[in-house]
Amino acid sequence: MAAADTLTKIRFEKATPAIGARVQGVALDEAATPEVVQALREGLHAHGVLFFELGAGVEEAQQRNFARLFGELEPVYGFSTEQREAQAKQGSGGLIDADFQPLKEYRTAQWHTDGTPFERPPQAAILTAVEPPELGGGTMWASMYAAYEDLSSHFQNLLDGLQVQHGTMRTPFVRERAQWIHPAVIRDPVTGRKALYVNSVYSERFLDMSESESDALLRFLFEHVKSPEFHVALTWRPGTTAVWEERVTQHRAIDAFAGKRKLRRITIKGDKPSA
Ligand SMILES: [Fe+2]
Repeated sequence: MAAADTLTKIRFEKATPAIGARVQGVALDEAATPEVVQALREGLHAHGVLFFELGAGVEEAQQRNFARLFGELEPVYGFSTEQREAQAKQGSGGLIDADFQPLKEYRTAQWHTDGTPFERPPQAAILTAVEPPELGGGTMWASMYAAYEDLSSHFQNLLDGLQVQHGTMRTPFVRERAQWIHPAVIRDPVTGRKALYVNSVYSERFLDMSESESDALLRFLFEHVKSPEFHVALTWRPGTTAVWEERVTQHRAIDAFAGKRKLRRITIKGDKPSA
């Protein structure tokens, strides 16, 4: 297909007012012209998460090529040597198998942004359903643009100047400890919009305030992120692929499903989030 044809065929159909778009007109083995790449990347930052139906039997190599449309790949994503070795044993760089990594135990059924205890958390991630559940077991995303914009200007002003320590104290499955400090509110470099950057798995405390003040603020924000108005939910079918901009969204799995739940994950390298 000629590049110009592809570009005119790309359509972003909004999934909810706050977040998510189903993308039509992009095929799995897309020829990546600069114009197509730009349209997809702008769409990703604008909508937070993009959904594609790529069809059953998507191979890992095909998913990798598709992922490259969105950025540079991170070779293996995981906190600990144990996790990385486990991934290697499964014969795949990033197969997420609920039999092997129970959703509750691995905190994937709790709202979070991946990798925030690192200096450079992932920029984006791509999941493809390899063996989706027969029933349930979907994934949800929340817009952190919407979560920030929904706050009063008083609250926005308070958060704008604050820094948050992120770490692995609530993730016992992580053996190798990580910790980093990021702004509580970051600005997306593509859209210029501000996004709340506080999540219930890794955000540990606000700097420059008492422990009780920090705890109260964290509790409020963890609840705030649960507002359904900020959310979109996806039901996985074979080949369903979701690409999300990590830093302006949060996500969680739904830990109620029948059958297997196998999704293949590819991670896109990120830079330091900044206010
Ligand atoms: Fe995650």
